[in-house]
Amino acid sequence: MSVRSPLAAEMARLLRQRLELGAGDLVLDGLDRNDALRLLAAARTLADTAPSAASPPRVPAASGAASGPDAPVRPTPPARTSVPTAAPEADVAKGRAGASPDLPVLPDDYEALREMALGCTLCRLSETRTQVVFSDGTPDARLMVVGEAPGANEDATGLPFVGAAGRFLDLLLACIDLSREDSVYIANVLKCRPPGNRNPLPVEIDCCAPYLKKQIELVRPEVLLAVGTFSAQLLTGQTSTLGRLRGTVHSYQGVPLVVTYHPAALLRNPKWTRPVWDDLQLLRGVLDGG
Ligand code: URA
Repeated sequence: MSVRSPLAAEMARLLRQRLELGAGDLVLDGLDRNDALRLLAAARTLADTAPSAASPPRVPAASGAASGPDAPVRPTPPARTSVPTAAPEADVAKGRAGASPDLPVLPDDYEALREMALGCTLCRLSETRTQVVFSDGTPDARLMVVGEAPGANEDATGLPFVGAAGRFLDLLLACIDLSREDSVYIANVLKCRPPGNRNPLPVEIDCCAPYLKKQIELVRPEVLLAVGTFSAQLLTGQTSTLGRLRGTVHSYQGVPLVVTYHPAALLRNPKWTRPVWDDLQLLRGVLDGG
């Protein structure tokens, strides 16, 4: 397992050591007060650390690298696709005022999909973004994590979850022996940053969700993890609160789906530590065939 920060490595080492000592499910199932405090201390340190060279983006956002997150999932050559733009005049006005514009047909080829998303101007977020944030991690993933939307760091780097919440997410994943380097693919409901990190608007989700759904179809992970209300509601198709949606395994198009609190929310609200750990245990159990 590879991890991104010394803290994550230390946490993973500790947990592995406990497993080797026969502690079995202690890692997640028997998380005690000390474990929780240790985790929170690590999380606070991460939150206090500015985005740094300690976790540089691994893959250039717009490169066509042969390996890495944005390598084609399928070996088909990129199809020529047109970049989606909002439909002219009346439709644009409609879409931008609140109703969904006509959506383009999305390609079944991963690289073509990515190319299309990188040039997308379907909604007004395209006017304020620096970069489209398509994905990170390995397309050969066992787990796909779905977040909400890029923030300032993601908008600047073109990669999802690279700020404090992202480093905390990496730590949480490391604790269940997963990493974006080896086993995780990460994407968001929205590919472009909402100004000021405001909540996604319904019209923005309507425009952008088809990209995510196609990513899920092409990556075909063994399990999905939705972090935060927006991705949880989108993928479950339910409007319940996160507190009601979490704690059970849902299904998205036949793929097991676990939902949990967003790592940024967990950084602000330590009381959600235990439920998040329980959700991660649920997730690990699905991967382990439990
Ligand atoms: N929060 C998210 O939901 N996604 C990101 O990429 C970063 C922060």
